[in-house]
Amino acid sequence: MAEVVILDDESAAAGLAANVILDLVRRKPATVLGLATGSTPLGIWLALADRGADLSDVRGFALDEYVGLPDGHPQSYRSVITREVVEPLGLDPNRVMVPGHLGPIETAGNDYERAIRAAGGVDLQVLGIGTDGHIGFNEPGSSFESLTRVKTLTRQTREDNARFFDSVDEVPVNCITQGLGTIRRAKHLVLLAFGEAKAKAIAAAVEGPVTASAPGSAIQLHPHVTVLVDGGAASELANVDYYRYAWANKPEWESL
Ligand code: GLP
Repeated sequence: MAEVVILDDESAAAGLAANVILDLVRRKPATVLGLATGSTPLGIWLALADRGADLSDVRGFALDEYVGLPDGHPQSYRSVITREVVEPLGLDPNRVMVPGHLGPIETAGNDYERAIRAAGGVDLQVLGIGTDGHIGFNEPGSSFESLTRVKTLTRQTREDNARFFDSVDEVPVNCITQGLGTIRRAKHLVLLAFGEAKAKAIAAAVEGPVTASAPGSAIQLHPHVTVLVDGGAASELANVDYYRYAWANKPEWESL
């Protein structure tokens, strides 16, 4: 089962996630990180930038990308990852990939899978979750075995993401995303969520039935998952007392 840690606020969760990443990079400087966009992981990137660690050997694979935005569009995930992750953390831009940018879109999914495999797989995948339960851009109904491919966004996701555009109509309809099968191959999943708007999606992911209708529930099939949430995002979880008790009694030698 996922290790659920309920923290006081976003910055505590971001600091904890940053520590886990830095521990990994100390052991393996060429760590392969799975990078998520969205507002949720922003604190991690800020915390990592603050610590000033040398991350120049780290490799990165973004989870997803819009399809159809012009090159260099400020809201393309390639631009977002460059602005929010690559530059502040001092990553080597040639070692960070975003799906859909390797060649023609028709073969982009397979090309991306090949690139992840060639890098030795993702060591640690950072994940946020959508209010409809999506991870990456795997909307409800996505196969747990799916690999990187082009998909169609739900209206709800487009409305959620409209805040980054002038209107919902400007949010692309199509995207390319690592599949749930791709995500499940990463060695360690670190899922973060904050605020009550995410409470239902988190409860479904952590405690609900394993079902394609709740893509986040794919984490229950993974042997090493850490879920970092604040009180709001934890508010629909049934086993909160146990998670707090387990965290308070975690053996000192055991890392996240
Ligand atoms: C977006 C991204 C996801 C992200 C999710 C939540 O659509 N494709 O990778 O996890 O929505 O976004 P936020 O963290 O801004 O709430």
